[in-house]
Amino acid sequence: MISLGINIDHVATIRNARGEEHPYPYIAAKNAIKSGANSITIHLREDRRHINDKDLKIISSIKNIPLNLEMAATNQMLKIALKYKPNYVCIVPEKREEITTEGGLNIKKNNKKLKYIIKKLNNSNIRTSLFINPSIKDIKLANSIGTKCIELHTGKISNLVKRKKNYVNEFNKIKKSAKFADSINLEVHAGHGLDYKTTKILRKIPEITEYNIGHFIIGESIEFSLRKVIKKFIKILKK
Ligand code: PXP
Repeated sequence: MISLGINIDHVATIRNARGEEHPYPYIAAKNAIKSGANSITIHLREDRRHINDKDLKIISSIKNIPLNLEMAATNQMLKIALKYKPNYVCIVPEKREEITTEGGLNIKKNNKKLKYIIKKLNNSNIRTSLFINPSIKDIKLANSIGTKCIELHTGKISNLVKRKKNYVNEFNKIKKSAKFADSINLEVHAGHGLDYKTTKILRKIPEITEYNIGHFIIGESIEFSLRKVIKKFIKILKK
């Protein structure tokens, strides 16, 4: 079965723009699951620019929301993950200045720390995943430190498709990586920058069993729902 995970970070981005409560990330999470999504992803960043600790507390307490917590490989985040026990954790690289997660993890450089964190999470029955670039070398390293899954960074292919450039090389890299990871029993996920078109392209790779999508789904939802919301306001004004 193919899983769809919805990243709701940008619901919190909109909420934080006003410093108020609305829109509520937990309501987006409930609606996403009700609509057929398989899991909810939230990235608790060090600078708490979108999702905050209260969001994590609320969403992790709601039954029937399989939660995927994205986090940096730090002791502080490990402590938080072990406290709230999300179903899944995906470890991602984090830079304070970046607009979004720009690339995969440097496993070689952070080997010891990642191994320690993965062991702790595995022991707590939290499914572990590492966000990596589509590279056989990185998949081998990921496997050697005990992760159960890998998530392949699809930012590059997404950009190529959006700019109508040749994406065949990048597609083949992802395909080869997915096949290799699957052959050594790692579960293969994909995410970053995905829209309808890139997702359709990547669906040709059967080894990818989970897609985690955020920005496009939230953006598209705004475009889709705008008419409905305006109609509701017009009704109120006419009364
Ligand atoms: N997967 C991971 C590991 C991410 O860090 C992100 C967000 O940066 C996503 C998926 C979703 O990316 P997007 O918002 O571009 O769909």
